[in-house]
Amino acid sequence: MIGTSLCRWAISYCAVAIAWLLLAEGLMVAGFGFPNHDIGGPDTLVIVHMVCVGWLSMALCGALFQFVPVLVARPLYAERWTLPALALLTLGLTVLLAGFLALGGHFNGPAWLLPVGAVLLIAGFALVVVNLSMTLWSARPLPGPARFVAGGLACICVTTAFGGMFSLVLSGTAAGAQWPDLLISGVPIHAIAGLGGWLTFTAMGVSYRLLAMFMLAPDGDVRLGRLAWLAGITALAVGLVGGVLTFWRMTGLNLALLLAGPAALLSLAAYGRDVLGLYRTRKRRALELNTRMSLAALVSLAAAAILGAALLAIGFFQSHVGALAFLVAFGWLTGLVLANLYKIVPFLTWLETYGPVMGRMPTPRVQDLVAERRALKWFVVFFAGSWAATLMLLLDAALGFRVAVAAVMLATLGLSEEFIRARRLADVAEPLRLPTGAAMPHLLVSRN
Ligand code: HEM
Repeated sequence: MIGTSLCRWAISYCAVAIAWLLLAEGLMVAGFGFPNHDIGGPDTLVIVHMVCVGWLSMALCGALFQFVPVLVARPLYAERWTLPALALLTLGLTVLLAGFLALGGHFNGPAWLLPVGAVLLIAGFALVVVNLSMTLWSARPLPGPARFVAGGLACICVTTAFGGMFSLVLSGTAAGAQWPDLLISGVPIHAIAGLGGWLTFTAMGVSYRLLAMFMLAPDGDVRLGRLAWLAGITALAVGLVGGVLTFWRMTGLNLALLLAGPAALLSLAAYGRDVLGLYRTRKRRALELNTRMSLAALVSLAAAAILGAALLAIGFFQSHVGALAFLVAFGWLTGLVLANLYKIVPFLTWLETYGPVMGRMPTPRVQDLVAERRALKWFVVFFAGSWAATLMLLLDAALGFRVAVAAVMLATLGLSEEFIRARRLADVAEPLRLPTGAAMPHLLVSRN
């Protein structure tokens, strides 16, 4: 990644994302939303969108702005769009959440909050999607990992389109009244396209390149990732097209999911096999903490696939889908994002601070910006807390869930402190810390 230009606002996306995560965790600890309230109720929707949009999507957008140009060896199409997109996403999410709170009777808000929030969010995501798609378009034919990103970008369009239509229905507009059944048949499509297509599929693609880079494993074989991509894109296409047909009452959603399920499992199995292959052929014997923790997140993904299949087989899927969603959102996606931020934040900080003086002055290594032993305990608490919280949901133990999420929140706070220390160069030994010509980075924005 050396020689890459820095995206000025990538760090800001990560900072905003972590703020949303902490807020969502705080609300869960306080007993707001599921499992104390209905899983489809407005309070749960507040938490779901804080986590899915505010935390995961925001962090993913920041990482993609920095990383897609590296994947395709082309500059970002429009760096100047990244700040307006951040502003639109933040404002749109805030208004949408206000709409959910009004829907839940927490205050007497106007009905237009939900559609206006949706429009702002759609505008923000549109800026992100066009920017990244144009960057990918300039690099055809796409390398393997970039194809996953292209699939993910298509899925976020589906997610936001359905989200926009839901907001019209829920706010009681005349347009929304034309789709009385939309919420029943559309929510699974919206959730699968968002969690499965946009977040998971994109993260899988990006992790192929990141894991290979961090483990020093050869990833030049064009067949690497092909089966995972083909099976995954088939699962998403069958699930989404089937879902849309359900909406027109031409077939049952269960049939579509039954057909998509095995393809999704095949994709995950092929991905797991590929990651194991990269692990076995790696040249870096002792793995850095970020890679070890990415592997822990992958264990959660495998556990989620097994749990999902088991719940379906014993007929408990509907009643325990909350536990599965939590394991996917926290054990897998949040774990993977936090593990990668633990590398991305010091790396971008290092590039920004020492890049300009490299070769002219002695500089520290990227690893000198972090203290892995100190951070390890936070990751242990994070994963133990996430798995315990999933178990509590399976056991219907609401209080136990809140205690487990408190541990997850403590770990998030601990890791946030580690990120701040990396930005502040707090762990770099003094003679190398700020050589002549190097400037201390700002906390929330990069100089590029
Ligand atoms: C334009 C952006 C978005 C809007 C306007 C929006 C809106 C909505 C609305 C109104 C619902 C409630 C439907 C109901 O009453 O049953 C909902 C549900 C849901 N949304 Fe979104 N959404 C957006 C983006 C996303 C994204 C990006 C994700 C995931 C990555 C996501 C994940 C979910 C999930 C999992 C549910 C189901 C929650 C539950 O039933 O508890 N949404 N969304």
